[in-house]
Amino acid sequence: MDSFALIIFGITGNLAQIKLIPVLYDMAEKNLLPEGMSIIGVARGDMSKIEFQKYFHEVLQMENIHHKHPIKEEVFEKLCQKLHYVNGNIDDPNLYLKLKEYMKHLTKKGLSCNNRIYYLATYPDLYHHIFENLQKNSMNKSDKGWVRIMIEKPIGHDLKSARELNNLLLNYFTEDQIYRLDHYLGKETLQNILTFRFTNDIFEPLINKDFIEHIQITASEDFGIGKRGGYYDQVGALKDVGQNHQLQMLAFATMDAPSEFTNEAVTKERIKILKSLTPLPDKVVYGQYEGYRKEENVDPESNIDTFYALKTYINSKRFRDVPVYIRAGKKLKQTATEISLVFKNPTYRLFKKISGGDEPNILIYRIQPNEGIVLKILTKVPGHEIKLKPEYMQYCYRIDPHTHYIPDPYERLLIDTIRGDQTFFNDAEEVEAQWAFIDSLIATRSKPHTYKPGTWGPKEADKLLEEDGREWLEPSMEFCRI
Ligand code: BG6
Repeated sequence: MDSFALIIFGITGNLAQIKLIPVLYDMAEKNLLPEGMSIIGVARGDMSKIEFQKYFHEVLQMENIHHKHPIKEEVFEKLCQKLHYVNGNIDDPNLYLKLKEYMKHLTKKGLSCNNRIYYLATYPDLYHHIFENLQKNSMNKSDKGWVRIMIEKPIGHDLKSARELNNLLLNYFTEDQIYRLDHYLGKETLQNILTFRFTNDIFEPLINKDFIEHIQITASEDFGIGKRGGYYDQVGALKDVGQNHQLQMLAFATMDAPSEFTNEAVTKERIKILKSLTPLPDKVVYGQYEGYRKEENVDPESNIDTFYALKTYINSKRFRDVPVYIRAGKKLKQTATEISLVFKNPTYRLFKKISGGDEPNILIYRIQPNEGIVLKILTKVPGHEIKLKPEYMQYCYRIDPHTHYIPDPYERLLIDTIRGDQTFFNDAEEVEAQWAFIDSLIATRSKPHTYKPGTWGPKEADKLLEEDGREWLEPSMEFCRI
């Protein structure tokens, strides 16, 4: 791996604290940070290098649901040697002069700053200052190496703003320098869907309208918005996770086989799915959990959605008339993210009349928790009678933590960026296709229905399926238990 400098704008913000700093520690622990690389944090506060290193240490001690393991001091010491800090306001041109000087100083000391990754862990309304100033100081390119820029979803807040941002980016960078990050694309459990589908020939011939009755995607969380009210109240569930993570889940589960495993070929197939979605604005249900309006930094009269459920179709020969139901929400009954492909039940089945004999087979991609790929099948209960019982044929990730280490998506995507591999990043057209679909739903957005925390959302979401003679599948915790 090339050595490089990682410049993180917004190092004292929430994203850096929750995700980036822990992931950098993990990478140090696994020796994944190349020799001679530097991490340069950028933020407003005045901190010496020592104080900055102390800050890093403190962040690593904070309670973090994504990062629970103990910190080894010897690893931290190693990481510490790579840590640097430059302070200043993002809209202040002097910051960039200072940063440039600092990098020159590091280069003189033999550290590598010719290759650079700029990670924008800041508010999107600050991006343009960063782009402009990097260009003004010729820091957006490098004669002796590469320069890459990472920005997080959401890219824009609708199609228009996404296009504006994509166009703006192109004034300063080329597309191959831009890494638009949706961390779901970095999830091992999502990436393995491609391997499962396109290296095993058994299932692929069945993944189409002749065999699949309908598809469900659930991303439920049993917790609320926490301290993210300021952000969340502007966005809501459909834009926060629907526009990006969940559409990507659908794309992975239904896309055609790419002609080869390259960024261009894989992205092209994802885009084809995204562009073929049929918006059904009257088949969207919004919900808001009771008590949401009292959350910190939330408008007391907010009508933002903390839950949504929708129905759509993939307008392709392969999936014509196969309904797709998607739901996501906060403060629901259970935390679980999964894709279920429910198979058709043939008219004739030998044991159909026996109790439970008409249950469908379901292929489940469990993204989290109890990560795995499982097939729900009917089996005979051992004994003298013919009794049927649904069971799971399962591939699980966590059986043996030594052989099944699952890298954090941020770690995975950071490594991809260092390697210059954009396969699991969004390109401009892709993000715009996602927004085009979401915009056409939101245009006629209705007020959210209130739901009780700890439930599966408003009953109107159940009706969405009931009127089609179906029901939501409750994510099972029976398989892939740790
Ligand atoms: C983020 C959303 O992008 O994804 C959060 O902003 C959501 O609201 C999170 O909780 C879910 O990610 P994960 O990896 O925990 O499923």
